[in-house]
Amino acid sequence: MLPRSRPLSFGNMAGHVGDSSLDLEFVRAQFPALATDWALMDNAGGSVPCRQVIDRVARHMRELPVQLGASYDLSVRAREAVDAGRQAMAELFGASREEIVLAASATVLTQALARSLRPLWQEGDEVIVTNLDHESNIGPWRRLEESGIRVREWRCREDDLSLDPADLEVLLNDRTRLVAFTHCSNIAGSILDVPKITATVRAAGALSCVDGVAFAPHRRVDPAGLGADFYLASLYKTYGPHLGLLYGRREVLAAARGENHFFVSESALPLKHEAGNVNYELCASLAGIVEYLRLLGSRHGLGEQACLDSCFELIAAQESRLAARLLGFLGEHPRVRVLGMVNADPEKRVPTISFLVPGMSSRQLVTQLDEHKIAMRHGHFYAYRLVKDLGLDLEDGVLRVSLLHYNTEQEVERLIEVLDGLL
Ligand SMILES: Cc1ncc(COP(=O)(O)O)c(C=O)c1O
Repeated sequence: MLPRSRPLSFGNMAGHVGDSSLDLEFVRAQFPALATDWALMDNAGGSVPCRQVIDRVARHMRELPVQLGASYDLSVRAREAVDAGRQAMAELFGASREEIVLAASATVLTQALARSLRPLWQEGDEVIVTNLDHESNIGPWRRLEESGIRVREWRCREDDLSLDPADLEVLLNDRTRLVAFTHCSNIAGSILDVPKITATVRAAGALSCVDGVAFAPHRRVDPAGLGADFYLASLYKTYGPHLGLLYGRREVLAAARGENHFFVSESALPLKHEAGNVNYELCASLAGIVEYLRLLGSRHGLGEQACLDSCFELIAAQESRLAARLLGFLGEHPRVRVLGMVNADPEKRVPTISFLVPGMSSRQLVTQLDEHKIAMRHGHFYAYRLVKDLGLDLEDGVLRVSLLHYNTEQEVERLIEVLDGLL
């Protein structure tokens, strides 16, 4: 089974997928912040929001800035707008509204989830974390050590940064309660075989918590289809506002202890996990993400109500073309060391590409790229343990180029030309 969320079928849709003829003028016009002479290649840090999202935030604050839950008309309409945002996310992630928990960030959600699950477990129970993940899907679980939970580490292979399911099997036992792992490395861009891992975890009687933050901007995600009990995304990296999203399988979300007020029923999903309520205008704006995706689909001949899988196929085709060009250059350059695989296969990776130039400082290179108006970043990207375990300088870290479908071939050529001159 291929490591993906939904099967990609390049080359069979209206002549657009496969030859990846995205109408980039149209695409970029949907993202006001792209009207700049900077090439924005730090998208795994945060994508720029689409105008459908921006407009909704402004509209909500202008027209519906009232408290929800009252009987007067404005309050009812505000509630409808907020509900529509959550409903859009339920549609995007193939879930029910009760299974979508929203909060300020994926990190905050994971911390709360760990606290919510702890009462279900006994001292001496175990969780498994990786050394590949962003710290947000490691630290909250490791912290449970303070209350008697034993933490085991599933370590990636140093050569290709892959996580071997055989190594996980050795760590699983009848005390394992949860395995936390990433869908996609935010450093190497490699996609893990999530269905295979979740099946292994479930067979051992444990839960899986998948960090999809680095994956969700690039492909359609179906957490339930992947077999995940929990799945996290950061919507500010998926063309949306600064919000985190947790998908939780209904039964486990219901069993986990809520963090809301004592009078909020334990059966009230997702409210019991949303203490202090959601940010209304940002939640209302989420419908804009799906509106953008559908507009992308209809612009490319997929019809007004394009299925979201097909919209993401358009995205994947454009991204893999960009990744292939850049990886072709980086992979063959004698001074460059790419972290992880050099393969641009969209089934195996997203266009998040990290590299090092031995003998040169990543910080200095990024600063030089700034001068050419190429926005990138260096560091450990909060995959702190990975960068440390690889023996790399944590301050200087690695250079990361993270592309999205709105990046152009011209931007990639510009990056290659500048890098070629610098190396
Ligand atoms: C892979 C990955 N997971 C988790 C996070 C944390 O997301 P948030 O900023 O929403 O807490 C990030 C943020 O950069 C990330 O890249």
